[in-house]
Amino acid sequence: MIAKSALSRAAAAPARNLSALQCVRAQSVWAQVQQGPPDAILGITEAFKKDSNPQKINLGVGAYRDDKGKPYVLPSVKTAEGKVIQQNLDKEYAGITGVPDFTKAAARLAYGPDSAPLNEGRIAITQSISGTGALRIGGAFLQRHYPGAKAIYIPTPSWANHKAVFSDSGLEVKQYRYYNKDTIGLDFDGMVEDIKNMPKGSMVLLHACAHNPTGIDPTEEQWRAISDAMKEGGHFSFFDMAYQGFASGDTDKDAFALRHFLAEGHQPCLAQSFAKNMGLYGERVGAFSIVCMSQEEKARVDSQIKILVRPLYSNPPVHGARVASTILNDSALNKQWLGEVKGMADRIIKMRALLKENLQKLGSKHNWDHITDQIGMFAYTGLKPEQMRQLAEEHSVYATKDGRISVAGITSDNVGRLAEAIHKITG
Ligand SMILES: Cc1ncc(COP(=O)(O)O)c(C=O)c1O
Repeated sequence: MIAKSALSRAAAAPARNLSALQCVRAQSVWAQVQQGPPDAILGITEAFKKDSNPQKINLGVGAYRDDKGKPYVLPSVKTAEGKVIQQNLDKEYAGITGVPDFTKAAARLAYGPDSAPLNEGRIAITQSISGTGALRIGGAFLQRHYPGAKAIYIPTPSWANHKAVFSDSGLEVKQYRYYNKDTIGLDFDGMVEDIKNMPKGSMVLLHACAHNPTGIDPTEEQWRAISDAMKEGGHFSFFDMAYQGFASGDTDKDAFALRHFLAEGHQPCLAQSFAKNMGLYGERVGAFSIVCMSQEEKARVDSQIKILVRPLYSNPPVHGARVASTILNDSALNKQWLGEVKGMADRIIKMRALLKENLQKLGSKHNWDHITDQIGMFAYTGLKPEQMRQLAEEHSVYATKDGRISVAGITSDNVGRLAEAIHKITG
């Protein structure tokens, strides 16, 4: 009956239906969608691809490359992968918070085996879609449950995605001073002053190590002062640790800031990524954790994390987490992995030294100490956007216009040519 009456209504008003149809066809539903701004890294990749110079250099990539400029799959990852496949495991769904053997080991790696909250079972943790996913879950959790103002302070500059991740989580994004362009170093006084001037109980994002994009980290002494200033203001710390082990080659050393904050009584939360330190970029392996005051509080926080994750993606992928878990839980493989992380960190440190040495040999009048003082995958050269344009157009050297270069893209073969190009531009 209902179908019949609907049909007769349509038949009675053919002209109206036709014009509605024409309207749908005449203009797409998405006609009003605006073109987004071009992606900086994509722009570099495209320009690099088009350049026919056989000696072109790409320093825009945010992934480790070996000394031949090739992507690197860690031997420990290959072995772990073999072990996972040998086990012939099923492909059932993981729980909402992921593979438990992985999350337990990830927490131990970050907080340290002697960590009180870890050993007292009061760290709520979930597997995440790498570091980005961890930040996003964290942003959403803070937006929903943080008792203070829903605003987070990030350093100036910060990883380009932080602002988008947190504002898409519904948080207001504010900034604190971090980089001093005159010294090409940390604006420590500015940072501490800004922390002191924030409203009481503010949320502050801190890069745990290997700050991206500057490669400039506070010293241990400076971290102590930052922790004091954070405590004084009753601020909440959110650590982003995307490069544990990758900075110094030592996973404990790189966790200093997080562990110091814990020892000082802070109650931080943490985003971890295994993209860089295990080279598991495309596997998307990460974790988000919150330090709680009791097991009972942890249980409540856990339940709310699950409520957040379930409608986002139900549960995380298992393969990469199984690989990471195998590495972290097998003592021989863990030792091998730590050696490989150190190998990657050392190659980067060596390339920094070679670049500086080559610039000095060429007679550069500039001080390039910041190249070796900085740490991690990226170096902030201090070059201006115009100089970066010249590097690309005149020397086929591609990197972001903020002067950031990926040291991972430097090799024994191209470092000399890179130094010459920089020297020609900077005089
Ligand atoms: C500071 C920082 N945080 C988080 C990430 C997230 O990376 P991923 O989602 O690949 O783990 C990155 C990646 O470059 C980063 O540099």
